[in-house]
Amino acid sequence: MAEILQQGNLYHLRNDHISYIMAVMPENVLAHIYFGGRLHQINADAVLRHTGAGDTKSFTVQECGLDRLPQEYPAFGLGDQREGALGIENADGSVAVDLRYVRAEIKNGKPPLAGLPATFGDDCKTLRVLLADPCTRVQAELLYTVFDDCDVIARSARIVNGGTRDIQLEKVMSLSLDLPDDRWEMITLNGSWARERSVNRRALMPGFQGAATQCGASSHQQSPFMALARRGTTEQQGEALGVSLIYSGNFVAKAAVYQNRSVRIAAGINDADFSWKLCPGEAFQTPEAVLVYSQSGLNGMSQEFHALWERHLLPHKWVYAHRPVLFNSWEAAYFDFDEDKLVDIARSAAEAGVELFVMDDGWFGHRDDDTTSLGDWFVNRKKLPGGLERLADRVRALGLQFGIWMEPEMVSPDSELYRSHPEWAIHIPGRAPITSRHQLILDMSREDVQDYVYRVVSDTLKACKASYIKWDMNRNFSNIGSAWLGAERQKELPHRYILGLYAVMGRLTAEFPDILFEGCAGGGGRFDPGMLYYVPQFWCSDNTDALCRCQIQYGTSLFLPPSAMRSHQIAVPNHQTGRVTPIESRFAVALGGCFGYELDPRKLTDDERGAMKNQVKYARESEDTRLHGTFYRLLSPFEGNDTAWMAVSGDQSEAVFTFVRGHALANEVPALVCLQGLDPEKVYTVRETGESYGGDELMRSGLLCPVDGGDAASLLYTLHVSGA
Ligand code: GLA
Repeated sequence: MAEILQQGNLYHLRNDHISYIMAVMPENVLAHIYFGGRLHQINADAVLRHTGAGDTKSFTVQECGLDRLPQEYPAFGLGDQREGALGIENADGSVAVDLRYVRAEIKNGKPPLAGLPATFGDDCKTLRVLLADPCTRVQAELLYTVFDDCDVIARSARIVNGGTRDIQLEKVMSLSLDLPDDRWEMITLNGSWARERSVNRRALMPGFQGAATQCGASSHQQSPFMALARRGTTEQQGEALGVSLIYSGNFVAKAAVYQNRSVRIAAGINDADFSWKLCPGEAFQTPEAVLVYSQSGLNGMSQEFHALWERHLLPHKWVYAHRPVLFNSWEAAYFDFDEDKLVDIARSAAEAGVELFVMDDGWFGHRDDDTTSLGDWFVNRKKLPGGLERLADRVRALGLQFGIWMEPEMVSPDSELYRSHPEWAIHIPGRAPITSRHQLILDMSREDVQDYVYRVVSDTLKACKASYIKWDMNRNFSNIGSAWLGAERQKELPHRYILGLYAVMGRLTAEFPDILFEGCAGGGGRFDPGMLYYVPQFWCSDNTDALCRCQIQYGTSLFLPPSAMRSHQIAVPNHQTGRVTPIESRFAVALGGCFGYELDPRKLTDDERGAMKNQVKYARESEDTRLHGTFYRLLSPFEGNDTAWMAVSGDQSEAVFTFVRGHALANEVPALVCLQGLDPEKVYTVRETGESYGGDELMRSGLLCPVDGGDAASLLYTLHVSGA
């Protein structure tokens, strides 16, 4: 049960497993005291004496006392030499901010954040703390939410200009957290297009480290996630602290080691090239950041993230709903299709039991390659003479639902839209626009652009009575400028863009609650908790190679759940790597997320088509356990040749286990993999082999994983409690 206790000058937020404690100090400074495993109580003075900042009676701001004090929301300029959470250029040009505690209140539940996606729920408690600068009257409202059912503290800040003159926000973090020691290692997820979210782990060192983006999206290269793990922490045991941001734009998540080996971590909108003018009476709301604490290793941390997003962030209608096994036309046909070809492909897919057919890129304007027509969301009559309506009807007549691809935030220079509205593209007047994938980005900070995007998507969905939309976004920012915003507000554009995007996504998902929205950004280039508030699933990567996907999905699972990852079985040789992998392995890996196909089914052999029917049946039967069971990473493809993961149903009666050996090795002994999360008292039977084992045996002695064949051989085992 979540509770917030006020004990003298302390506020103590806790649930059954974690505690978060702050103290109101002399001179009304708000100090951070503790975040970690649940405590009954704490001797705050002892904690503070360790820092050298004085205790709850002797602390003073004089003599730069703030420089050693762990704080809740530090600011620069009054003696704390570390990096502040809030940076302001005051009306007089000075940069000092002096936040003092004014009052706090405790509420049941969780208030929404204006204009931003955020966690929600009734089974939680929220502490609202008001700080204010007595000199400039700037206020900071800090929200802290503790949940009954997740070991998470959600935090955000709202800055109000309570003064009489304009100020300029230069930095406004969602959270700042001071930790007393640096005996941690940092884990971040880094990569590039087609190589998203590789796991990188290194010791925390003096100075700054972390992840940040400036490309307008959460990006392929970085993820709004960071973990600190104790040196000995493994997947299965040890202490880990995870940070994530519910945001899809430029972000920073970083840690710095300061004097006395203390650590300050921060997460929020990237302050590089950010600035926001705040007029008197106006407020600025930060995105929400979350802190996860686990004493059961990185798996424990990830399970808390997964549970938080599924229970308190993803669209509730969709989270636990059946995700149709889909068939996507992209790698089957690319731009080269007409109505009959698509219907032929859809017919073969329907025969295998697929439930949803998705027409990908290439159906609009005069688009036959990626150089043209984005923005012209009217059907290409040469390819689809009967319009979207007739194609969708023919697909539905085969017993399939119909889904469609759009890239609504973009415009091609070769488009009617650009010719009539060049000012709608992000650009700097007087400089030549810079294209990427031959396209420009619409300025989503503009209300007229938001209305246009809303209207074309809404009209398209209605025209084809779509059951699904894949919302793509295929390039990052450059030449960042808005013809709409004044000179003094140009640095607001990246955040205003994301606010505009969220507004449109909010309108559309409210208008079409029965349509499944899937996110995509050149694969997983904007796969973050911010988007997951609107879309319950995201195309994990454009790389569909089974071995590459082992790494990508393994890394992604550090903070995002299998139910959010879209994953397809594809043809070989793989279109990205040229590698040939066995069909069983492509299937097993694709089952690590929402399952579908992206190949030309007409080119399959009879055997492969037969296998497809069984695959669809298995994918549906195992869906609940695979997508919503407790997920465990077992063997890391970043540390060795093998990958293993498993998901265990909530009642521990079923588990799906996946093992993939990378390269075939000569004279190799089979791997012995210790499973996790089973009932040690029960006996489990492996459906595929008929062999039975004790749950304790599988977890302590291990499961032998003999694989035959060449590279990328795999095992997919379904375990059931015997007799159940
Ligand atoms: C992006 C997506 C792909 C596909 C293409 C279409 O790259 O990630 O899945 O939709 O665009 O152009």
